[in-house]
Amino acid sequence: MSALDRSAIVAVIGAGAMGAGIAQVAARAGHPVVLHDNRQGAARAAIAGIDTQLAKRVAAGKLDAAAHQACLANLSAANGLQDLAGASLVIEAIVENLAVKRALFAELECLCRADCILASNTSSLSITTLAAELQHPERLLGLHFFNPAPVMALVEVISGLASDPALARTLHATAKAWGKKPVLARSTPGFIVNRVARPFYAESLRLLQEGAADCATLDALLREAGGFRMGAFELTDLIGHDVNYAVTCSVFDAYYHDMRFQPSLIQKELVDAGHLGRKSGRGFYDYREGAQRPAVQTLNSDALIDCAVVEGDLGVLAPLLERLGASCIDLTVRAGNGLLRVGEAVLALSDGRLASQRAREDGLANLILLDLALDYRSATRLGISWAQGTAQAAIDQAVAVLARAGISASALSDTPGLCVLRTVAMLANEAADAQLQGVASAADIDLAMCAGVNYPLGPLAWAHAIGTGSVVTVLQHLQAAYGEERYRPSLQLRRSLTANTLLAPETSHE
Ligand code: NAI
Repeated sequence: MSALDRSAIVAVIGAGAMGAGIAQVAARAGHPVVLHDNRQGAARAAIAGIDTQLAKRVAAGKLDAAAHQACLANLSAANGLQDLAGASLVIEAIVENLAVKRALFAELECLCRADCILASNTSSLSITTLAAELQHPERLLGLHFFNPAPVMALVEVISGLASDPALARTLHATAKAWGKKPVLARSTPGFIVNRVARPFYAESLRLLQEGAADCATLDALLREAGGFRMGAFELTDLIGHDVNYAVTCSVFDAYYHDMRFQPSLIQKELVDAGHLGRKSGRGFYDYREGAQRPAVQTLNSDALIDCAVVEGDLGVLAPLLERLGASCIDLTVRAGNGLLRVGEAVLALSDGRLASQRAREDGLANLILLDLALDYRSATRLGISWAQGTAQAAIDQAVAVLARAGISASALSDTPGLCVLRTVAMLANEAADAQLQGVASAADIDLAMCAGVNYPLGPLAWAHAIGTGSVVTVLQHLQAAYGEERYRPSLQLRRSLTANTLLAPETSHE
């Protein structure tokens, strides 16, 4: 299906943050764009704002002056809704209110051409519901841009129950022609990104609530070991807790209180206190004048380490050995169950069991569990936790050997799945469930999480890299540890377990 012709008029309704950005994207792509807002002067002000922004880019040498002028020439402010009558595509980006949006679409249906595609930029309302009262519900779809629209590549093209699949393909091709990375999704609560991303926030919030580590340390682990651009606390401080908490609550309600989406009491408390994040000066961190950023907790050790014993296949941890070898640690390799012995310490990748439980079950003294890293070749920090009764000397030896490889160790209390591993396992689980329920294809889900929220790897590709079997094991252990169905593995993960021929070694047999 081909994209809309460049000569096709695109109308954008709502000249706020999103509408202005979307208008800019369409105008830059060469469409004549009519911008409408029911606030007097708002559309004109938005176009002036686009002008200023593009001028800055020209001054910085990032845009040529001709492109700036061509974009401006494509933009016009409507004097009223009637000016949108000639549009081939209308994108609505007004206030997030079902009744107001429905009334607008009813009006547009009478006003616009019969072949005009009606699209909503809603981030939380059902496209099926928005379209239900239209005479031609098949022509309404979701076209969900991310903020800021000119910068963020992802566009979710959402089909409601009645949406015409041919129009979804047209919007997909059009968004692509506009330089975006579009994905196709069914209208379900949270669509792709706002659903699949929930565990990213939820697991950190839970770890903080349980006192596993502090905000700064958990954030540092997600960044420095997980490869995420930001940790969950700095990110929610940036998004605003009112917004992030409201999205979580709406997804939780929409999925009939599935405990996978359970909102966090500690985030609610921030909202109740008005500590909304950066915008209010305080959130998990303090942004007020003179406030100090809390330090990331790093373990220190004076232990001298010059050798280690590798027992069996370390699986995803294997690249650590290259780093140890490169830093002149003498490595002895022998058969075994994927353990690294350093002095008295026994190091292993977490499999989702508590360290104390695993030490007891597997008969391992001084067991120290390592968290997941996106890439053990380059990670600069790793979370560790240890079993009750572990000797201080063993902890020191584990910290020292990691330091030799250039990795800072941060302690978590004995916690199932530590931080990065449980976060990634739960992201993969949610992504798999979205795939199972036909929300979107696996490729589109992974693309959405990379292009929409900058994940370093799509959750499904990540699960594949770790080994789907290992992810299922981690989830089962989390489920057993907490006794909560929140951690139940998705049927889709179990299915791909049987289909997956590239499984990494199972950590559960250690
Ligand atoms: P905003 O509050 O910045 O702008 C909304 C604009 O719509 C305002 O200028 C307002 O005057 C205008 N408006 C309200 N009712 C109108 C009507 N009946 N007719 C014409 N204009 C009307 O809101 P924002 O943030 O731009 O959001 C707009 C939509 O985009 C919402 O549906 C929101 O859920 C969605 N969205 C927002 C994102 C964000 O990060 N802000 C991200 C993705 C989607």
